[in-house]
Amino acid sequence: MKKTLLALLLTAPAFAQDIEGLLKQMTLDEKLGQIQQFSDFGFSTGPSAAADNEKQKERIRKGGVGSILNCVGAKWTNELQREAVEKSRLKVPILFGFDVIHGHRTTFPTPLGEAASFDPKGCEETAAIAAKESRAQGVRWTFAPMVDIARDARWGRIVEGAGEDAYLGSKLATARVQGFQRGGKYAACAKHWVAYGAAEGGRDYNTVDVSERALREVYFPPFKACVDAGVMTFMTSFNETAGIPSTANRFILTDVLRKEWGFRGFVVSDYESVDELRNHGLSADGAEAGLDSINAGLDMEMVSQHIAQNGAALIRSGKLQQSTVDEAVRRILRVKKQLGLWENPYTDEAPEQSVLKDPAHRALARTSAARSLVLLKNDKNVLPLQSPKNILVVGPLGDNQADLLGPWHGDGRKEEVITLLQGLKNRYPNATVTFQKGCDFKGPVETLNLAGADVVIVAVGEAEAMSGEARSRSMIGLPGEQEALVKQVHNSGKPYVVTLFNGRPLALGWVAENCPTLLECWFPGSEAGNAVADVLSGDVNPGAKLPVSFPRNVGQCPIYYNHKNTGRPANLRPEYVSTYVDVDNSPQYRFGYGLSYTTFKIDGVVVAADHTVTATVTNTGTREGDEVVQLYIRDKVASVTRPVRELRGFQRVALKPGASQTVKFPLGDRELGFYDRAMRWTVEPGEFEVYVGNSSEAPKATSFFIQ
Ligand code: BGC
Repeated sequence: MKKTLLALLLTAPAFAQDIEGLLKQMTLDEKLGQIQQFSDFGFSTGPSAAADNEKQKERIRKGGVGSILNCVGAKWTNELQREAVEKSRLKVPILFGFDVIHGHRTTFPTPLGEAASFDPKGCEETAAIAAKESRAQGVRWTFAPMVDIARDARWGRIVEGAGEDAYLGSKLATARVQGFQRGGKYAACAKHWVAYGAAEGGRDYNTVDVSERALREVYFPPFKACVDAGVMTFMTSFNETAGIPSTANRFILTDVLRKEWGFRGFVVSDYESVDELRNHGLSADGAEAGLDSINAGLDMEMVSQHIAQNGAALIRSGKLQQSTVDEAVRRILRVKKQLGLWENPYTDEAPEQSVLKDPAHRALARTSAARSLVLLKNDKNVLPLQSPKNILVVGPLGDNQADLLGPWHGDGRKEEVITLLQGLKNRYPNATVTFQKGCDFKGPVETLNLAGADVVIVAVGEAEAMSGEARSRSMIGLPGEQEALVKQVHNSGKPYVVTLFNGRPLALGWVAENCPTLLECWFPGSEAGNAVADVLSGDVNPGAKLPVSFPRNVGQCPIYYNHKNTGRPANLRPEYVSTYVDVDNSPQYRFGYGLSYTTFKIDGVVVAADHTVTATVTNTGTREGDEVVQLYIRDKVASVTRPVRELRGFQRVALKPGASQTVKFPLGDRELGFYDRAMRWTVEPGEFEVYVGNSSEAPKATSFFIQ
C-alpha cells in the first residue's frame, strides 16, 4: 500500500488531472505527440531490435507517443509506460489499444455469430470478460465494437458486426459498449464511422455512395447507440461517402458526431487512413492529408504521422489553428483521465496468467457459442442425436483448431481450441468417434469410408482467412470441393448432419435444397467443439436466429429483409415486376429465422392505447427451449417511402414444455418515426401494421392508427 502511494506521488504531478493546466504546460511537440498513435512497439527482431526499442523509448521520453496499438503483455506495457510516466517531462501516460473483437485469450464467437443469439445481456458479458482479460495484459482500449451495418455477404468484414439490421445492431452495440466499459476503466471504440459496410460490390475499402437518408436510417443508428451508451472513442472508416473520405469528412466527424450528438470522446483514424487521403485523391501530400483530417475533426492519427510531422509547419503557415490542435489533445487527455491512467498507469503483472486462463471464462465461451448456433433445417429429426454408438466426423473443419477461432481473435491460441471431433469425444465417451478429412478448402475430394458409422457429422465452410478485413469474395458458396464431399455422404444414405463454419452468409445452393439437417455454427471460438456437441446432443436446445439474410445466390446481394416495396413489387402482377428471371426474390434463409428442437406458438397480440404491443409465447413441444419473439412494424403510407417492415422489438425467452410468457414491446416515437423530407425526426399520422412472430416473415397480427 505504502509503495503504491509513494509511486503515485513520484509519478503523478499535481497538475496531472487538470487538463487545462496540463495543456498550458505542453509544448507543441508534446501536443502533437498525444495525437500520434504508433503500432507494434517492441516487436522489432533481429540484430537491430535493442537499438529500435531504445529509439522508441526515447520517443516516449520526449513526450512523442500518445498511444500504442498492438502492444500486449503486462511486463512490456509497464516497461514502456514507465518511460512515459516516470521519465518524460510532463509524465502523460500512454494509452495502449488492441483489437479485442470477440474475446481476448478466451475467444467467443465472432460478432456476427454472437449476434445470432439475439441476446444483448450475453453480448455484454462476453465484452466485459474480453476487457478484463486484455486489461490484465496492459490493454486499456479496444477497437470494438464494430457496428457497421452490412447487407452484402461478399464483404468479408460482415463477420465483425451484428449483421444487416440497424435496430438489432443498435441494441447489441449498446450492450457491447456497456460490457467493455464496465467499471469505467477501459475504453470501447465505435467503428468504422461510417457506412464502411456499404462498399460497392462488397469489395473491401471500396467507394460508398449512399444518401443522407440511408446514412441516418441505416448506418448511423448503431453509432448513435454507442454515443448514448457513453462510448469513449470512435474510429473513422477507410471508405469515402459521396466523395468525401470519412477521415476528412467534416459532416460526419463534426456536424453529426459533435454538434448533433454531443460526443465528448476522441476520434482515431483507421490504420494509415490519414495517409490514404492521398490515394483517394483528396489531399495532395502528407501535410495536406494531416491538415484535412484534423480540420475535419479527427483527433488521433493511427500509424501514419502526417499531423505530428507537419503540425508545426501548418500552424506557422496559418492553415492550422493552434486551438484545433488543443481541442484534439484536450479530448484525448480527457479520455485518459476518465480511464484513471494517472492514478493507475501500470498493470499488475502477478494475476495476468490466472485471469487469462480463468475456467469461468471458458464456461462463458461455451455457453455463448451454443447460444449462437442456428438450426437451419432438421427435416428428418436427425437432431438431437439419439445415443449414437459410432460417429464419423468428416470435412476440413472437423478436426481443425486453427480456423474455429475466426478472424481478429486477439490473443486467442489455436492450441487451446476444442475441435468438433474432441467435443464429440468429450460428450460421447462411450461411443466410437472417428475422423476422416475427405477434402480441404481447395483441392480434390477423397473417397470416404462410411462403413460402421451410424451418423456422419460433416463439418464444412470457410477457413478463418476467407472472411475478415480484405477478404471479400465474389463467389460465396462452399469453397473448393466441399459440396462434392457433402454429396458423397448424402448419397450413402446414412443419417448425417451438415455443420457450417463461416464468417459470412453463404449461398448454399444444392446443400440448402437437399441436405435434411443443417446447423449454422459460425466461428464459435475457443470452446467450439464442446458448444457444437452441446447442441448436436440436445443438451442445449438451439434458440438462435439469423442476424443476416442468407442469399440463394451471390447475384441477390445486397439482400436484406427491410427493403422498400418499389412501384412494381413482385406480388402485384405476373410480369414487369421487380424480380430476377432466374431466381426468386426471397433469401434462402431469412433474417430472424432459426429452428428449435421444440415448437412454439406466438399469439394473443394486443396493442394498448399507448401502442405497447403485448404477445404470448407458449412452448407447445416436449423440450425446454428458447424462442426469440420478434415485433416488426410497417408504416403503410408516409411522406417518405418506408420499408416493407422493420424490426422494432425482440425478446429471447426460455420456456419449459407447456409454459407461456407474455412479452411487451413499447412503441414510442423512436420506434414509430422516421426522417421526413427535411431530415427531421417525425411520427406521421396513419396506419401502422404489426407483425409478431419468430422471424422476419412473422404474420400480420393487427394494425393501429395514429391520429
Ligand atoms: C482495421 C481496424 C483495426 C485497425 C487496427 C485496421 O486495418 O480496419 O478495424 O482496428 O486496423 O488494427
